Amino acid sequence: MDATDTRAANARPLLEVTGLTMRFGNLAANDNVTFNVHRGEIVALIGPNGAGKTTCFNCVSGFLRPTAGRVVFDGIDITGMRPYHICRLGLTRTFQIVKTLGDMTVEENVMTGAFLRAPGKREAREVAAEVLELTGLLDKRAKPGRSLTIAERKRLEIARALATRPKLLMLDEAMAGLNPTEIKGAMDLCLRLREAGLTLVVVEHIMEAIMPISDRVIVLSSGEKIAEGTPEEVAANEDVIKAYLGEKYHAAS
Ligand SMILES: Nc1ncnc2c1ncn2[C@@H]1O[C@H](COP(=O)(O)OP(=O)(O)O)[C@@H](O)[C@H]1O
Ligand SMILES: [Mg+2]
Repeated sequence: MDATDTRAANARPLLEVTGLTMRFGNLAANDNVTFNVHRGEIVALIGPNGAGKTTCFNCVSGFLRPTAGRVVFDGIDITGMRPYHICRLGLTRTFQIVKTLGDMTVEENVMTGAFLRAPGKREAREVAAEVLELTGLLDKRAKPGRSLTIAERKRLEIARALATRPKLLMLDEAMAGLNPTEIKGAMDLCLRLREAGLTLVVVEHIMEAIMPISDRVIVLSSGEKIAEGTPEEVAANEDVIKAYLGEKYHAAS
């Protein structure tokens, strides 16, 4: 690749979702959804319960094969690829319902992610130590997964995802059920990850947490994208206020 090609590759969005449609029988959980995510951005995906946010994550990360539309990651068409392959390319997601392996230690939970790339146990353990430190779980490394609090399990989920060394990390309600101090910690972690060069797509209901850290916000309602813009633009959008925000959030002015 020469310098011009490299510049062109960097200018291309990291994630390009075009006309994404996912039908379950008569229900279009995603209906012709189009958006891009640029390198180094934190993009929030918001909308009411049942809007299709998790379905969008499932389609992008390969857990569902979309009925129609195209997903391009880092220049590669990943539509319909298996989750493992998509993860190898550098796109990893977390789950709204955390999948802690209760009988394994915290460290082993994270090593399951690290083994995607680590050639052996020693390397996997090194990666685990690094991401456990980053997520503030290092002192819990020898504890069984089941002994963790909800907040710690949410962080473990992020740690395991980070251990796969993603370029794009998609977080599905990673702050749900956390107290204000823990939410602040999760916000700081997102900002640190962006600083470290990661790109994030974050599904979240807690507007006070997600709006201040997001570069751009995409709003889904009944499967359709109804708005996209800066947090300020979206918070002032009449359609968004009607469909979702109501009186619950006002951008600081
Ligand atoms: N596997 C599925 N089978 C049938 N319907 C589904 C399935 N997954 C999600 N849905 C439906 O799709 C819609 C969007 O759901 P979801 O993507 O979970 O929304 P959100 O994450 O925004 O709350 C909902 O009406 C939900 O009931
Ligand atoms: Mg959801």
